[in-house]
Amino acid sequence: MNIIVTGAAGFLGFSLSINLLKSKHTVFGIDNLNNYYSLKYKKKRLKELRKFKNFKFSKIDISNFKKLNSFFKKKKIDMIIHFAAQAGVRFSVSNPQNYISSNISGFINILELAKEKSIKKIFYASSSSVYGDNKNYPWKEFYKPRPISLYAKTKQFNEKIGNFYFRKYNMQIVGFRFFTIFGEWGRPDMFLFKLFKSIISKKTLNINNYGKHLRDFTYISDVTKILMLLIKKKFKRHEVINICSSKPISLLEILSYFKNYKFSIKKIGRNKLDVRNTHGDNSKLKKILKRKFTFTDKKESIKNTFDWYKENNIINIT
Ligand SMILES: NC(=O)c1ccc[n+]([C@@H]2O[C@H](COP(=O)([O-])OP(=O)(O)OC[C@H]3O[C@@H](n4cnc5c(N)ncnc54)[C@H](O)[C@@H]3O)[C@@H](O)[C@H]2O)c1
Repeated sequence: MNIIVTGAAGFLGFSLSINLLKSKHTVFGIDNLNNYYSLKYKKKRLKELRKFKNFKFSKIDISNFKKLNSFFKKKKIDMIIHFAAQAGVRFSVSNPQNYISSNISGFINILELAKEKSIKKIFYASSSSVYGDNKNYPWKEFYKPRPISLYAKTKQFNEKIGNFYFRKYNMQIVGFRFFTIFGEWGRPDMFLFKLFKSIISKKTLNINNYGKHLRDFTYISDVTKILMLLIKKKFKRHEVINICSSKPISLLEILSYFKNYKFSIKKIGRNKLDVRNTHGDNSKLKKILKRKFTFTDKKESIKNTFDWYKENNIINIT
């Protein structure tokens, strides 16, 4: 298949692209290579992707309809996997415009071009953040969204637009509600890589909410296995699916895995933009997969990620 992956230089776009390329699909990667976090790191991911002959890359900002339109011309595309977005909750306070242009205008541009080119299958990234301050755990897909950040609001809006395009134009559109994905090639702005950096550099690590936050951490290799199965499925309506292990752990528990390392932590209060706990229900996912799926052991995968981080000297490029 010919597949467009937006956000291909990002954590999830890169990780899924590697799997698609190994399965002999042709991947047209798009990314604007923004500097929200280390550009050097994004380029390192691209270098890995470019080792595959079936990978083609275009540096495009998805909010630029004209450029995107000329990219779509003359290409026969079977599927779009849309992961490009401005991520991060805190950054949305100082940079709200990025969220509107990338997450909202960008998504509409993608859907419009998919419609024009009759590309029938579109998968996009939503987020667990749409559940916001809902305290009825585990979160099920039909619960009413209660977003508490601008980032989460844009993701909620993506779901509404996805549903609208499905109804109006009969396109297969499916949203993935990702829950704190971690692992090799992960994001330097997220907790785990900040922890690794502190351990190695011996700099103090600030722990939000005194480490009490529970997060439904989900390992990237489990996520890519799940996505490779989901993209083969047929969907008769617009769906949103929790992508989570459904086994949340606290930040304090993760710290305990590293108790043999000497580094200092500073426990601080909760940032109001952070949801207290995240815990998704993954029974809809399992039902769609129609098979048993075993999630990798968390402690083991976190430790493996740390080994990978050290071996690849990620601290020096992030
Ligand atoms: N990683 C997680 O735990 C997680 C959780 C929930 C939701 N998500 C969502 O999944 C998707 C992928 O997340 P990620 O962790 O890989 O983030 P990421 O920041 O690593 O990747 C996003 C990529 O999109 C690119 N991008 C941003 N704006 C763009 C634009 N206007 N045009 C073209 N490219 C643009 C960035 O340069 C980046 O490489 C995002 O939509 C994110 O909101 C991720």
